[in-house]
Amino acid sequence: MNTLLQTIQDTSFADWVRVSEWGYPIVLTLHSLGLALVVGVLFIIDLRIIGIPRSLPLVPMRQLMRLVWLGFTVNLLTGLTLFTADAVKFYHSPTFRFKLLAVVSGVTLAAILNSIVFKAAPDIDSGAARISPAFKGMAILSILVWLAAISLGRYVAYE
Ligand code: HEM
Repeated sequence: MNTLLQTIQDTSFADWVRVSEWGYPIVLTLHSLGLALVVGVLFIIDLRIIGIPRSLPLVPMRQLMRLVWLGFTVNLLTGLTLFTADAVKFYHSPTFRFKLLAVVSGVTLAAILNSIVFKAAPDIDSGAARISPAFKGMAILSILVWLAAISLGRYVAYE
């Protein structure tokens, strides 16, 4: 595995990301913008699921999920790009692994909440249905795992 990681790290692309004046800062800035889209929109949706504020209709919010998937695509591509720059270190970092676990958990929760809660959104908006405590719990968990992903992602730089 180390040989493969070292080969990735030794490519001229990885070299450009690592040592050029603008490579790393530009990609990291795009990574932060992707993060803002994903976590910003999901926080609003998660808070609405918890009931803050209950007056906000859920139906139009579903369209915002496109922005979440766009932001996630940006973060996947920029994250993989950043990874190439120091592949051996990132691969062996427990903090980085926990960060990825938090990202995968957050995306899974978003997909579940998206498919189930938004399907019931018209009934919830009209008052014919309520959001169950289980889904509210998942929305709280979603906020916590994204906070973990951001904190762990930032911490990797200090290892
Ligand atoms: C939406 C999901 C993601 C979030 C919220 C996130 C969050 C973060 C944060 C907060 C940072 C620190 C930025 C800084 O130091 O200023 C970071 C850096 C980084 N992320 Fe992500 N990330 C996500 C997805 C990914 C993915 C999918 C990968 C890899 C496949 C990845 C790989 C990296 C790498 C390699 C760094 C650089 C760490 C360093 O320079 O020390 N990220 N991420």
